[in-house]
Amino acid sequence: MLQQKATAACRDARSAGREAAATSLYTTAQQTTTHAPMNAVEIEQAITDLAQHPFNPAEFPYAFLEAFGNKATTLKRLRAGVSNKSDLGGVLQTHNIHILTCAPGQVTATLAALKASPATTKAKVKFILATDLPAPRASRQAGGTDLEAEDLNNGETIACAYPNLPDHFGFFLPLAGISTVQQISENAFDIRATSRLNRLYVELLKDNPDWGKAERRHDMNKFMARLIFCFFAEDTDIFLEKGRFTATISQMSAADASNTHTIIATLFRAMNTPRANRTTAQIPRWADGFSYVNGRLFSGSDTVPRFSKIARAYLLHVGGLDWTKINPDIFGSMIQAVAADEERGELGMHYTSVPNILKVLNPLFLDDLRSKLNEAGDNPRMLLNLRKRMARIRVFDPACGSGNFLVIAYKEMRAIEAEINRRRGESDHASEIPLTNFRGIELRDFPAEIARLALVIAEYQCDVLYRGQKLALAEFLPLSHESWITCGNALRLDWLSICPPTGTGVKLHADDLFGRPLEQAEIDFENEGGETYICGNPPYLGSTWQTIEQKADLQIIFDKRTKNWKSLDYVAGWFMKAADYGTHTHSSAAFVSTNSICQGQQVAILWPLIFASGHQIAFAHTSFKWANLAAHNAGVTVVIVGIANPAPKVRQLFALTDDGETEVKEVAQINAYLVPGANVVVEKAARPLSGQAEMLRGNMPYDGGHLLLSRDEVDALGLTPEQRTRFIRRIYGSAEFIRGLERYCLWIEDAHLEEALGIDAIQQRIEGVRTMRLASRDRGANEMAARAHQMREMNIGRSQTIVMPGVSSESRAYLPVGIVDNNTSVTNLAFALYDATLWSLAFIASRLHLVWIATVCGKLKTDFRYSNTLGWNTFPVPTLTEKNHNDLTRSAENILLLKT
Ligand SMILES: C[S@@+](CC[C@H](N)C(=O)[O-])C[C@H]1O[C@@H](n2cnc3c(N)ncnc32)[C@H](O)[C@@H]1O
Repeated sequence: MLQQKATAACRDARSAGREAAATSLYTTAQQTTTHAPMNAVEIEQAITDLAQHPFNPAEFPYAFLEAFGNKATTLKRLRAGVSNKSDLGGVLQTHNIHILTCAPGQVTATLAALKASPATTKAKVKFILATDLPAPRASRQAGGTDLEAEDLNNGETIACAYPNLPDHFGFFLPLAGISTVQQISENAFDIRATSRLNRLYVELLKDNPDWGKAERRHDMNKFMARLIFCFFAEDTDIFLEKGRFTATISQMSAADASNTHTIIATLFRAMNTPRANRTTAQIPRWADGFSYVNGRLFSGSDTVPRFSKIARAYLLHVGGLDWTKINPDIFGSMIQAVAADEERGELGMHYTSVPNILKVLNPLFLDDLRSKLNEAGDNPRMLLNLRKRMARIRVFDPACGSGNFLVIAYKEMRAIEAEINRRRGESDHASEIPLTNFRGIELRDFPAEIARLALVIAEYQCDVLYRGQKLALAEFLPLSHESWITCGNALRLDWLSICPPTGTGVKLHADDLFGRPLEQAEIDFENEGGETYICGNPPYLGSTWQTIEQKADLQIIFDKRTKNWKSLDYVAGWFMKAADYGTHTHSSAAFVSTNSICQGQQVAILWPLIFASGHQIAFAHTSFKWANLAAHNAGVTVVIVGIANPAPKVRQLFALTDDGETEVKEVAQINAYLVPGANVVVEKAARPLSGQAEMLRGNMPYDGGHLLLSRDEVDALGLTPEQRTRFIRRIYGSAEFIRGLERYCLWIEDAHLEEALGIDAIQQRIEGVRTMRLASRDRGANEMAARAHQMREMNIGRSQTIVMPGVSSESRAYLPVGIVDNNTSVTNLAFALYDATLWSLAFIASRLHLVWIATVCGKLKTDFRYSNTLGWNTFPVPTLTEKNHNDLTRSAENILLLKT
């Protein structure tokens, strides 16, 4: 239950683009308005379907465009020739693609013609694509024999046999408004495999509905993890012959799929039985050739879901992919969505990209290892010491998902170790970096399984890369029995039991990843001691979005430390636990996090506690946005914060420049606002601390829309000019002020109530307010029903009001501020200084004030969210002379003159 809720919360936050669990890809995905939003997985599926159908030259261009999300109306216009701009008899969609089918063998010449076509240039197309008609002897199934295409933006080309078009779908993703960088096209395999496994998973659940229920979910997840391992193993010679697993199922199981499950179960049983025991275990001869794998992956229940003919076909189809191309950094994050009902639609399209993971890992410890490698040069002793040091480093991700941070950390460390071995002339040397030093906690069962698998695959791929396939194969099986990914709630588990303090030689019992999670995870293998680096991208959830269980998680951690813990984001729990952990053992930690923990009210709640544990901010990355491949791409804004005790003398503060480059400053201290400087924490103040004028929130209508009016609604009231002057005011909230929108409100002083009630249209509106307030579950609102003719507050300037929107865009160089007359009111979406001196306006419009607000107030994504208690009342104002006042007043007047 807890698990499901946390997952859903994680997903919710992501998809809503709140201060969210941020995961991303290497891409900036922008869905253009001309396309129905399709994600990369859906596109891959559509292209695969297209390539499987008999080739129809006349239909191909439209079917191709449809696969990339073009709507029926767009295609209809193209077909009718209205929007088809081709000058070669093909199909040209402006700004997108020019497609032409041609006679057999003419593909290259046709592509050249497409490139030279004036229409191609004029319509600014991104791609050209040529494919030829099937040669007379070609199979009817095969479609056009060849296909060539060019991305005109970067000159990249592809050439393939038509049926292999799905292998290149990543090349065309910009057609769907998904602009990719290199990596995603290169990792098209991971998307394809995810798509295939997803179809299989869904089909199996159709055939075995009980496997989708909570009681069988673990079996289903385990089954999928085993399958993935087998597909990988059969393509990488681990099962000795390429494709052996799939081929055995194809040959041994009946075409009607009636015994597919028993064949697979037998194979799994073989993989769980050491060779010496196989006769006793009655493993049939046809399964005997399979290696003993176990490593807990094949232990436990060996029941397999039943297969329909379709599911069997899907299985064979997935097995037919080339699994050597699997990339464990990405694949794990994608595949985990297959098992999550609520995420399946997006199929892992939001995951943390490798460059983003490295933003955490590099400054946390990898840069240091690399610099030590540089220092060591060719000195064998220094190189050896570094290798020994690395062998004792533990990397711990307490919200590891499918293990991408751990996989990247492992691969990067293996690269450094390989360089050490090369310099020492020991290229064959077996790796001394134990996989078991890459530990994780994950709430959900399937990602936890996949994390372990991803690490195993990463280890094998590194062995092949650095030591050659022969040595890699020799040492790969059986898999290690040790368990190092714990399935459980990281905020409830004792991290010291997962990564015991170094040097204590603690020996404990392990949680079994492939068995039931224990309350308290304990690791049963030798703890050699060394450094521990905690990292990850834990879930972010603002206080309003947390479940009861998640609130309880935070309560356990913070209750005895602060009474304000309820305002904290869920991610704060990970920072606090990391700091607690660091007081017991040599460690440092860095997490990707919502930027809200370094802004506004949360700063004063969380950071004094972290600093009190002796930790300081060792490095940080200031707010940055990232995007992902999700169809409904929610940009989220994050920071990265690294804490250590003791922190290094020189601290690194990373930030994105306007042109998207990362710049780094080396500073003596980074405070909780991620600014270089002392650990000053700004707390809310009820009154201005430096004697400036009082700033209030505007008037809260609480009216169900009855007190606020458009100009037309005002006209519809049918008031006389006098009544209009008496009862109608112009009103400003943030949007009205910033965008100059016209809005009015009913403004009825008690003394004029009787007269107002005499006007039918007004009386009805007051009644509407009363009904709405009485229906509310808020007691305060119920009480306000007694004066339904008024807003909660009825503040208005006697002479004038300085207005200040509550939220404004981060792209502004100055905060917007203005002045309105005594006939104008302000809503609660803006702040107001009633009858204040003009020089207050000069403060607000100053660059200094914007910098102060940007630093100490919370933000909405990256936009400024103004707060009177946190930003205005705390704004440090020196004692001002009369001359200062005069100068400021003149500045304010000049600003107002410029505005008009
Ligand atoms: C934003 S994801 C990051 C995972 C992975 N690093 C990635 O980039 O895809 C956060 C992960 O934390 C897990 N999670 C949520 N609450 C948790 C908890 N209380 N304990 C452990 N893991 C949790 C979620 O299931 C999810 O896999």
